[in-house]
Amino acid sequence: MKKILFSFLTITVFFLGTAEARVYKGQKTYVKKCRKCHAGGQELAASKKKKSWKKIMKNKGEGLADIHLEDKKAKKSWKYFESKKYRKYSKHLKDFLVEYAKDSGNVPACN
Ligand code: HEC
Repeated sequence: MKKILFSFLTITVFFLGTAEARVYKGQKTYVKKCRKCHAGGQELAASKKKKSWKKIMKNKGEGLADIHLEDKKAKKSWKYFESKKYRKYSKHLKDFLVEYAKDSGNVPACN
């Protein structure tokens, strides 16, 4: 019984840990890749609801890439949005955006 409880706890901690790590990685990506054109990441995240972010970020962030690739003002971001790196990390970005979405109840921290 103890053993089962222990594995359960380990698994829970593991999942919570990775979810948090992904949000953190997403935030880091945001600061590195998006902040030069968009200001605070958490404010941007709070501009939409969870559902909208999930829609925009599905298929490896295709929607978000399209928004930028269709807009000449965002030309400087095209290389990034067309890269494999963007697709690879888009899930982290999504986790970050959803975590701080308008209806997430998470108040942006002052940092
Ligand atoms: C080179 C500048 C640039 C970079 C880098 C950039 N964006 Fe954008 N982004 C724009 C422009 C220009 C638009 C077009 C809409 C506008 O005028 O704000 C836009 C639009 C958006 C929109 C749609 C806004 C809306 O209200 O529907 C979102 C969301 C967004 N960007 C998120 C991001 C994220 C996340 C990143 C980083 C992965 C990023 N952007 C990187 C310039 C940039």
